[in-house]
Amino acid sequence: MINATLLQRMIDASNDGIVVAEQEGDEDTILIYVNPAFERMTGFDANDILYRDCRFLQGDDRDQPARERIRQALQSGQPCREVLRNYRKDGSAFWNELSITPVFNEADKLTYFIGIQKDVSRQVHAEQRVAELERELAEARERILRLENDQRS
Ligand SMILES: Cc1cc2nc3c(=O)[nH]c(=O)nc-3n(C[C@H](O)[C@H](O)[C@H](O)COP(=O)(O)O)c2cc1C
Repeated sequence: MINATLLQRMIDASNDGIVVAEQEGDEDTILIYVNPAFERMTGFDANDILYRDCRFLQGDDRDQPARERIRQALQSGQPCREVLRNYRKDGSAFWNELSITPVFNEADKLTYFIGIQKDVSRQVHAEQRVAELERELAEARERILRLENDQRS
């Protein structure tokens, strides 16, 4: 069995953000623990954000379909994995691959949610670039087909 100090060291050493949140009322899940990687990723100090709902990371950018899916998963006590646009303390944006898992106690009561955050900005930007290039390629192909048809007629 791993002792608590070793477990704490592992969580502290993780490269991914690890947070624990607790249900508060119907709407909010409030942060009760954030690890150092979460602080580095977001630029926020734990003391400034504990007891807040993590949605503050979305800033004013709240119109994201992933948000609704997360809310539904939390309400039904289901795990989920979504990619969201989030904002650091300095206002810069990053893509957050967020995985949330509900934790139940011995009485099968939902007590906590564990969140693991990964900055996937590089992958998302690369995928966006590939999609852009594919669009350009499709347009170029269409232009060539049109030119060929024009020459034939
Ligand atoms: C453990 C946990 C971690 C979360 N981490 C993030 C996060 O890093 N970024 C984020 O935008 N939302 C995060 N959320 C989701 C928001 O707290 C909130 O549940 C979501 O925005 C949907 O609710 P809303 O539509 O009321 O805002 C997390 C939620 C939980 C329970």
